[in-house]
Amino acid sequence: MDLRALSRLAAPAVAALLALTTGCTGSTVQGRPGASGLRDPYFPKAGNGGYQVEHYGLDLEYDPADGVLKGTAVLTSRAEQGLSSFNLDLSGLHVERVTVQGEPARFNRTGNELTVRPADDLKKGEVFRTEVEYGGRPKAFEDPDGSREGWITTERGAVAVGEPVGSMTWFPGNHHPSDKASYDITLTVPKGYEAVSNGELRSRGERPGGHTEFVWHSPEPMASYLATAVIGPYGVSTGRTPAGVSLYTAVSPGEEAGSADALARMPEMLEWGAGRFGPYPFGTAGAVVLPPRTLGYALETQTKPVYPGAPAEELVLHELAHQWFGNSVSPKTWKDMWLNEGFATYAEWLWAEEHGGPTAEERFRAFLAGDTDVDGAADSDWDAFAPAAPPGPDHISGNPVYYRGAMVLHRIRQEVGDAKFFALLRGWAADHRHGNASTADFTAYAQEKTGHDLEKVWDVWLYGEKRPA
Ligand code: TRP
Ligand code: ZN
Repeated sequence: MDLRALSRLAAPAVAALLALTTGCTGSTVQGRPGASGLRDPYFPKAGNGGYQVEHYGLDLEYDPADGVLKGTAVLTSRAEQGLSSFNLDLSGLHVERVTVQGEPARFNRTGNELTVRPADDLKKGEVFRTEVEYGGRPKAFEDPDGSREGWITTERGAVAVGEPVGSMTWFPGNHHPSDKASYDITLTVPKGYEAVSNGELRSRGERPGGHTEFVWHSPEPMASYLATAVIGPYGVSTGRTPAGVSLYTAVSPGEEAGSADALARMPEMLEWGAGRFGPYPFGTAGAVVLPPRTLGYALETQTKPVYPGAPAEELVLHELAHQWFGNSVSPKTWKDMWLNEGFATYAEWLWAEEHGGPTAEERFRAFLAGDTDVDGAADSDWDAFAPAAPPGPDHISGNPVYYRGAMVLHRIRQEVGDAKFFALLRGWAADHRHGNASTADFTAYAQEKTGHDLEKVWDVWLYGEKRPA
């Protein structure tokens, strides 16, 4: 437009035209709404576009007697575009107040989306603080595969587990594994209860009104599905591995005897893992043994896996292996689950092979033969689908993701030999340490690192629909 032509128009019309041409509606920064989901192939509404969270500060008070949670979530995020509004994922609960950069922000809720409209648009690249005051009775829910996740109440407490999307039941956030952040989680509970979360216990102290406050600190990046909070009566013990990793275990009353042997091996397992996969990626490690049957599965919650009752040795090894594969190297989408489960399962096979059990080769053959003597080999349906392409969100934790995923790794080992194979495992963990990776990243990396053409392995074992022969 010829600027001189503007002078012929009336002042309000000029303002309107300027607003149109610059796309602004009052504020000087140009923003548009952030996406309400990251279009994950299996959970399209999980996560949100337009920003990444760098840090979560969660300050939560929970009363097991009435199941009410009161929380403040402070998110430090970086805008990846100009933002007029952005979304957080939150399921249930009541939002009292939202501020952005200290200014009250308007918000509304539909489904599991909390849309926040800051008083001023956010600039691309801007680091901004969002504070959400919220509360209510958090509710667990059922996943497409029928498993329960989210905030799960126990007889005398609660446990929060979030794979794949249950973390939105207890705090607002960008709930997709591609957005990892550091965390500080403070839990305040009635006196007499323990409260356990990820990372290091910075302080534990009495608070007015008969409460105890636990301050947990997680400096390393964490995907939100790996965040946990466990509240209840637990027996706590602490220690340190020879390599200097601090240990914190919390065991539900009655589970001590059944847990003792497997938990006692954690320092040795962590040493062993460091030897096979490279340095342990976190400053702390541990375990939480929940009351039996609280969950139908164990989860590799960061630095402190949770177990539904006393765990077997291989299960502890599996969840510790996830600290490298899944927690440090996290999937880019929920389609990449085999990068978690195939690797953690193969770690079990490796551990067994080096500790008097069957070799990985024997396991591999037992699966191929459908051997009834080997756990899972005959009845697991390990060949029901391709591990890199589960048929839907109800299959991301299906047996083929675990077993056939492990068999993919064994096939690579058969092709390239032990030296290159172990260098590949270590290289993969190092290259993507505290990051995210996809199946395509892995196949490209494996070929480059080993110098072998592995196309056939990918075609037949990883992506092939037919049962590999
Ligand atoms: N990822 C967990 C593990 O392997 C297991 C798990 C979590 C799971 N959620 C699940 C298994 C749902 C089946 C269904 O350590
Ligand atoms: Zn697992």
